[in-house]
Amino acid sequence: MTSTCDLIIENVHLASMQTNGQPYGWVKDASIGVADGKIIFVGNGQNRQYDSANRVDGNGRWLTPGLIDCHTHLVYGGNRAEEFEKRLQGISYADLAKQGGGIQSTVNATRAASAEDLLTNALKRARRLLEEGVTCIEVKSGYGLDVQTELRMLTVARQLAEHLPIHVTATYLGAHTVPIEYKHDPEAYIDLICKTIIPRIAKQKLANCVDVFCETIGFSLPQCQRIFEAAKANHLDIKAHVEQLSDMRGARLAAKYGALSVDHLEYLNPDDIPFIQQAGTVAVLLPGAFYFLNETTKPPIEALRKHGIPMAVATDLNPGSSPVASLLTAMNMACVMFAITPEEALRGVTINAATALGMTNKGILTQGKDADMCLWDINHPSELVYGINQLRPQSVWIAGKHV
Ligand code: NIG
Ligand code: FE
Repeated sequence: MTSTCDLIIENVHLASMQTNGQPYGWVKDASIGVADGKIIFVGNGQNRQYDSANRVDGNGRWLTPGLIDCHTHLVYGGNRAEEFEKRLQGISYADLAKQGGGIQSTVNATRAASAEDLLTNALKRARRLLEEGVTCIEVKSGYGLDVQTELRMLTVARQLAEHLPIHVTATYLGAHTVPIEYKHDPEAYIDLICKTIIPRIAKQKLANCVDVFCETIGFSLPQCQRIFEAAKANHLDIKAHVEQLSDMRGARLAAKYGALSVDHLEYLNPDDIPFIQQAGTVAVLLPGAFYFLNETTKPPIEALRKHGIPMAVATDLNPGSSPVASLLTAMNMACVMFAITPEEALRGVTINAATALGMTNKGILTQGKDADMCLWDINHPSELVYGINQLRPQSVWIAGKHV
């Protein structure tokens, strides 16, 4: 007896990302079935148990999980093109921040922007990602810093999913920089984050994670520790910007608090890798920021690999360090500049990116998982990372629905 299902895609090669002993979790000449937004079967050849009125012939092309951008700051006001010009003349990113520019200048522009303007501009950026097969994004706050603007940013992040066929998960990044009004009393700002904003965000379910920028121009280890304590007390997951510009031992601290991910990692001390390993924390690589800031110190990829740390790749899409609205380009950059393999890059935007967001139902094509999928007109998955601005998916499905 045959049962019916909502969608069958047949005659495709799957880059399933499962660990089946094949590169990319390759399943040759496969078919895949979907019901109620979930994958209900995956197999070689045709499946005779299921039939569907909606059958798609993949023509021997490749099907991957929908791509996941697990680290973005795509809700913001203004831009930093003038600052970019100054950096090209030799002023460093950190020096611009110390002079009151940097993140604070985007904070000023974001505070001045209406929710409508923030949404309109964020939608444009999110559409760029979507066009390349991104079906799930993480969006951080952190350009408001005061209660009102942070809540506005998180609300706008949520609204993206009402306008676009995309899954959005929001992260509270109050500890992005000390706002100008607290420059003389940073501890009072940490109090505001821990005692007022985190509990409120948790209560209103406006974000799933709390993030920090652990850096000399950001927050110290003890300050980050206070924030991690507050996140834990309010049952929110932890993520952290660490070791981007210097070694603060932030990754070790975040791992001790069971962080979902530690991000950037250019200055990561290899001695701290066992802590990351023990916590099952994902290392998120952000090659767009490395490129745009013209950095030279690279994350210790070989040591991360040796310890079996799952690596993700993300755009870090933001106005200051990575105005990069292309996840495929970030994958290419990670391969060229950080020497990860094309397979690691694809794992980095699928299964490992899902893990970095605490999602167990995405980033892999196996039975029971969300049917977020991209069909690509390619002969091999390495083509996904090979070019720059050459490729778009042929078809995209989110929860089994063609978009
Ligand atoms: O991930 N490092 C801190 N935050 C962002 C940059 C933010 C900005 O410069 O506006 C990042 O690189
Ligand atoms: Fe970032």
